Amino acid sequence: MALQIDGSMTVRELVGRYPQTRGAFEESGIDHCCGGGKSLTDVAGEHGLTLCVLVDALAKCLQPGKAGATARDWYVAPLGELVNHIVETHHGYMKTALPRLSSLVPTVLKAHGAHHGDVLRQVQGLFNSLHSELTSHLLKEEQVLFPYLVAVEAHLRQGAPQPQASIGSARHPIRQMEREHESAGEVLARLREVTDGYALPPDACPTFRALYEELQRMEADLHQHIHLENNILFPRAIELDERTGENG
Ligand SMILES: [Fe+2]
Ligand SMILES: [Fe+2]
Repeated sequence: MALQIDGSMTVRELVGRYPQTRGAFEESGIDHCCGGGKSLTDVAGEHGLTLCVLVDALAKCLQPGKAGATARDWYVAPLGELVNHIVETHHGYMKTALPRLSSLVPTVLKAHGAHHGDVLRQVQGLFNSLHSELTSHLLKEEQVLFPYLVAVEAHLRQGAPQPQASIGSARHPIRQMEREHESAGEVLARLREVTDGYALPPDACPTFRALYEELQRMEADLHQHIHLENNILFPRAIELDERTGENG
């Protein structure tokens, strides 16, 4: 059954149900994680596209046989499975990418500082702040918020003991995580801006190229990671948490 895409649908709805549409949004520079609540009509206008062009690009992604067409539907999968997927795929990726970038950034700055120091020092400052923000963010999710959410689901679905709500309602830590996502999204946008869309200078060596490629991989992964949390995990978790009846 062909999906009818219209301008009132939100970016979040499309990417949530049809992850294969991410590429079309990314190619147009449309934020599908923190800004996912906007309608297609609004984002098309903001990015100088006609709605028709955007809808056509999205429809192409939805053609049968396109990669991602059989991706897991995270709106219905058990919450614990979604949490595992986020931790293994996205937190796991960050835990290898951040140290790799931590050593690449100063190496490239040292080699190219004479001609590109201006850009590379800004990249270093932005990356360092993202690195420290994300390191503590991932820990808070893994050690506090996610175990609580998994326990709430086990309580409601399997009759496991009601979890001790040491964090009070899930709403407060979730709001804090969303604020941290916004901040990370802003740093990613600044990185793209100061590097002129990761445009390599003509004298860039392979290590310089590797740095920009890894930063772009990190950007894409973080966008998908934040999308899964902001648009699917957190709304589902708040709904479940409220059903425990003790948080109001
Ligand atoms: Fe996360
Ligand atoms: Fe997060």
